[in-house]
Amino acid sequence: MIQSLLPNIADLHKIEVYEANGGYQALRKALGMKPEEVTDEVKKSNLRGRGGACFPTGLKWTFMPKVTPKPKYLCVNGDESEPGTFKDRQIFESNPHVMIEGIVIACYAMGITTAYLYIRGEYGKWVRMVQKAVDDASAKGYIGQNILGTGFSTQLVVHKGAGAYICGEESALMNSLEGERGYPRVKPPFPAQYGLWGCPTTINNVETLSNVPIIINNGWEWYSKIGAPKHPGPILVGVSGHVNKPGVYEMPTGVPLLEIIYKHAGGVPGNKGIKAVIPGGSSTPILRGDQLEGVCMDADSMKAAGSAVGTAGVIVMDEDTDLIQVIARIAKFYHHESCGQCTPCREGTGWLHKILDRFVRGDGRREDIDLLMDVANNIEGNTICALGDAAAWPVQSMIRRFRDEFEKRVHEAVPAEQVPA
Ligand SMILES: Cc1cc2nc3c(=O)[nH]c(=O)nc-3n(C[C@H](O)[C@H](O)[C@H](O)COP(=O)(O)O)c2cc1C
Repeated sequence: MIQSLLPNIADLHKIEVYEANGGYQALRKALGMKPEEVTDEVKKSNLRGRGGACFPTGLKWTFMPKVTPKPKYLCVNGDESEPGTFKDRQIFESNPHVMIEGIVIACYAMGITTAYLYIRGEYGKWVRMVQKAVDDASAKGYIGQNILGTGFSTQLVVHKGAGAYICGEESALMNSLEGERGYPRVKPPFPAQYGLWGCPTTINNVETLSNVPIIINNGWEWYSKIGAPKHPGPILVGVSGHVNKPGVYEMPTGVPLLEIIYKHAGGVPGNKGIKAVIPGGSSTPILRGDQLEGVCMDADSMKAAGSAVGTAGVIVMDEDTDLIQVIARIAKFYHHESCGQCTPCREGTGWLHKILDRFVRGDGRREDIDLLMDVANNIEGNTICALGDAAAWPVQSMIRRFRDEFEKRVHEAVPAEQVPA
């Protein structure tokens, strides 16, 4: 029986191997239940979204109208473009059928007859692997017409993105699927009312849906006892940066960050100290190396520490890291990826990037530190989508927690009017 996202089973990406290990049994079970019973099971399990915001999945499913003359859609978010995040890729490669099984169960629970799986454009190899898995699942009757003879039908379309971070934002993703520019939409109306082509739509992350067969197989009670009670289940943590064994590790939620870094990822090369950690992908607030004690990989613990689980992309930086270069590089990314629709983000990300580059060159002015904070504060909360927040949080947290690093780079000798623009 499938009990984890990445079990250590050779060739699990092949459908025969997946089936031989209990694959698609959860689908059989779910199809024997009432759709609302399936949603209820997911709701009671306390599964929370793995796409960044930790939103309760079962609750999200209940937002879909039960009766509607329109078709309903599921968008599966595999855009995975946040720097430091590479865990959905592991599902595509090692266990695509657990995701497909989860998608079909979700469609059944919400009465959806078409699902779109949106995969990051740069993931060419994984798009091909997933398409093969979808074809194999269709050939075996797990997707398509009259699934397993139950009368339920749903199709799954794999769509390759074109390389834009913004298209991971759920409403930009829907515009992109419609063939429009990937601009986020103003909410309300929310996707459950007015989503893809104006029809009721649910958007879930790849890893989120991959948890669903595990819940159905083992029951909500079993699942809800894994890891942190308010944010339970297995979670894929991608560790990168200054660690001996970078990679994707599956563990229960609630594992201490230090255990992730030292036990799973093999510690820091050269036994150096840790200067800073970004715990959940580049948009999550940075933590100081001396503040990591007791901080765990679950929503409540991260919140208490002043950061977020995000996409569980842990970026470790050792004591010799130039954090000014790090934050300038992050700012460059958000500037490049801003879609330009909202003025605070379009202009603000450019200013953050420009001012931080001054610090990298050693030309920062003392007043630039507060200016950076001011620009970031004026982006946060003032944009249609959360890309603006994602650009602001790393800068705000870096100044709050590492102000001394900025002060060291202030060039006192350069009069303000001579600083290059
Ligand atoms: C700029 C931006 C990029 C995002 N990129 C992704 C992404 O690549 N994958 C993802 O699942 N969610 C991404 N999200 C979050 C989605 O909007 C959405 O909340 C998520 O897919 C919902 O799935 P979940 O409830 O299963 O977590 C992004 C959000 C923003 C603001």
